Amino acid sequence: MCGIVGYIGKQDAFPIIINGLKRLEYRGYDSAGVALLNGSLNIYKCKGKVNDLIQFTKGKKLEGTIGIGHTRWATHGPPNDINAHPHTGKSDKLAIIHNGIIENYAPLKEELIKRGHSFESDTDTEVLIHLIEEVMDKEQVSLEEAVRLALQGVVGAYAILVVGEDNPRKIVAARKSSPLVVGIGEGEFFIASDATPIIEHTRNVVYLNDEEIAVIDLENGLSIKNIQNQDKAPFVQELEWNLEMLEKGGYDHFMLKEIHEQPRSIRDSMRGRLNPAIGNVRLGGIKEYKQKLVNAKRIIIVACGTSWHSGLVGEYLFEDLARIPVEVEYASEFRYRNPIIDEDDVVIAISQSGETADTLAAINLAKSRGATVLGICNVVGSSIARVTHAGAYTHAGPEIGVASTKAFTAQLTILTLMALTAAESRGTLRRSRYMQLLNELENIPEQITAALKLEEQIKYIAQEFKDAPNFLYLGRGYNFPVALEGALKLKEISYIHAEGYPAAEMKHGPIALIDENMPVVVLATNKSAYEKIVSNIQEVKARKGRIIAITHDDDTEIKKLADHVIQIPIVAEPLTPIVSVIPLQLLSYHIALLRDCNVDQPRNLAKSVTVE
Ligand code: F6R
Repeated sequence: MCGIVGYIGKQDAFPIIINGLKRLEYRGYDSAGVALLNGSLNIYKCKGKVNDLIQFTKGKKLEGTIGIGHTRWATHGPPNDINAHPHTGKSDKLAIIHNGIIENYAPLKEELIKRGHSFESDTDTEVLIHLIEEVMDKEQVSLEEAVRLALQGVVGAYAILVVGEDNPRKIVAARKSSPLVVGIGEGEFFIASDATPIIEHTRNVVYLNDEEIAVIDLENGLSIKNIQNQDKAPFVQELEWNLEMLEKGGYDHFMLKEIHEQPRSIRDSMRGRLNPAIGNVRLGGIKEYKQKLVNAKRIIIVACGTSWHSGLVGEYLFEDLARIPVEVEYASEFRYRNPIIDEDDVVIAISQSGETADTLAAINLAKSRGATVLGICNVVGSSIARVTHAGAYTHAGPEIGVASTKAFTAQLTILTLMALTAAESRGTLRRSRYMQLLNELENIPEQITAALKLEEQIKYIAQEFKDAPNFLYLGRGYNFPVALEGALKLKEISYIHAEGYPAAEMKHGPIALIDENMPVVVLATNKSAYEKIVSNIQEVKARKGRIIAITHDDDTEIKKLADHVIQIPIVAEPLTPIVSVIPLQLLSYHIALLRDCNVDQPRNLAKSVTVE
C-alpha cells in the first residue's frame, strides 16, 4: 500500500522516479507526487494516477539528480492534492514520503500544535516531518539523527524517505513493518517499496530490516544504523526477477497475462521439488523443520483474502492426505482473539506479497507463543519470508494485477507438496495413491493449458451475464474454497456483488435469493459428491436460477441441466482447485472488461496491504 521511489546519482531523477512509480502503481493509485532536490526543493503533487502527475508537471522545473516520489492509497484523509505526498515541515525545507500508519499521530499533532506548528493536510505523515524538523532544530543534529530520534517517539508502521534543502547530497530512509529496498548501482542508488522499480537499473539490492535507518549519500554511499544507534552492515543480495517479468508481454492487462502464465508459474513452483520417478518431494526451504510439520499436533494456517482461500484448500489437503488437524484463520482475527497456540503447533503463513500487515502480526503472535512458523510467500526477501522460521517460495514471478491469480495456484501447488511430503512421512497414504498424486501434479500445467483454451466459450458466457447485479458461487469439498475465490475475483474487479457458499448450505438461506435473474456458478467436478451436486443444481433449477456449471470432461448428467457447461480436464480431487479456478478467473476478467472496469487497478484496492 502506497509506493515509494527514491533516486540519488548522476542521472535526472524525475524520469527514473516516474517510471518507478508506474511500476509501483498497483500499491495505490489515488494521488501521486515527487520532491526534487536541485539547490532548492521542488515539490509537485496532485490527486489521481501517475499519468495525472506527468500532465501536472509538464513545463515545470524538473531538474535534479536527487528525488523522492510517492503513489498513495489513502488512509488518513481523502485522496486530494493536499493529502498527496510529499509533505513538508514548518520551513518547507524538508520533504517526506511515507507508507504505513503513524498510530499515535493524533497526540503528537496536538503537542506540535501547542508548540506553534500548523498543518495543511489530514495526514499522519505531515505530523512526522514536523516532528523530525523540530528535533533537528532543537537538538542541532544531522538529518539522519533527527529522523532516528523522532522515530523513537512514533508508534506504528512506516517506510519513509526524507530529503532536505540543507542536505543536497543525501536521502534518509527508514522502515518499520513497511518494506524498503535499496538498489545499488554504479555511483547511484535506487530506493523503493519493492524491487520492481529497481530491476531495470541494478540487480544488487539491500532489504532494510525493521527499525533500520539508511543514509544514502553521494560521497559515502550507503550506511545503515538501527533506531538504537548501532551500525549495521548492509547485506547485498541479487534479485532473481528480470525486466521481462514486469511487462505485459503483449497482453492487454497484467491480470490476463498472469492468468495465462499459470502453466509456467506452476512449473516454476514445482521445479526441483517434485520427482515422481523416485516418488520424491523435496522442499529445501523447510528441510530443517520437516519433522516439526510431520509431527505437528495441529496446523494453523493464517492468511488474508485470496491467500486465505488457498489456506482453506490447505485444510482439505492436510486433513485428507496427511491426517493432521488444521485450522484456517483470518490473520486479522487470529491476532486479536487471544488464540490457543502451543509449541507443538505448526503455523503456516501464506502471503503473495509477504508484506500483509495482519499476517505479519499473526506470525509474531504465534512465534511469541512458541509455535513453529512456516511461510509460503511469493516475494523473495519480503518481511514474512524473513520473519518466519522457514518456508517455501512460490516462485510464481511478480504478480502485478491487483487481483491475485497465479499466486493462488502457486500457493496451492506448494500446499499440495507440503501435504504430500507430510503424508508420506506419516504413512497416511497408500503408496499407489501417493504416486498417482505426484504424477498428476507434475502434469497439472498441461491440464491448466487445456482449461485456458476455454477462454472463447467463457467470453461468450461473460457477454450474457455481464449486467447481472448478483452472482452466487457454489462448491463442495475441495471446491468450496474455489467458490469463495471465484466470488472474490468477480466482486473485486467487476464490482458485481457475489457470494461463495458450500453448495449444501444454499438451502439454509441463500436459496431465497434465487430467481430467473440469478446466475449460479456451480463447481461440479467432485467425484465423491457428484450426486449431491446434481441435486443442488436441481434445486437451483427449480427456482429458475441460471446455471453455469464447471464439470469434468466426462460429465453426462449436469450438461442436461445447466444453462452453460464449462468442461475442464479430469484431475484427482485434491488437485481440482488448481484447475477449477481457471475458468472463474477468466470469467471475472471478461465480465470486468465488458463492464469497462479497470481490471488491473480496481477502485479502492491496492496490492500488498501493509496497513491493518
Ligand atoms: C485478492 C487479493 C487479496 C490478497 C490479500 C492478501 O485478489 O489479491 O485478497 O490475497 O490482500 O495478500 P497477500 O497474499 O499479499 O498477503
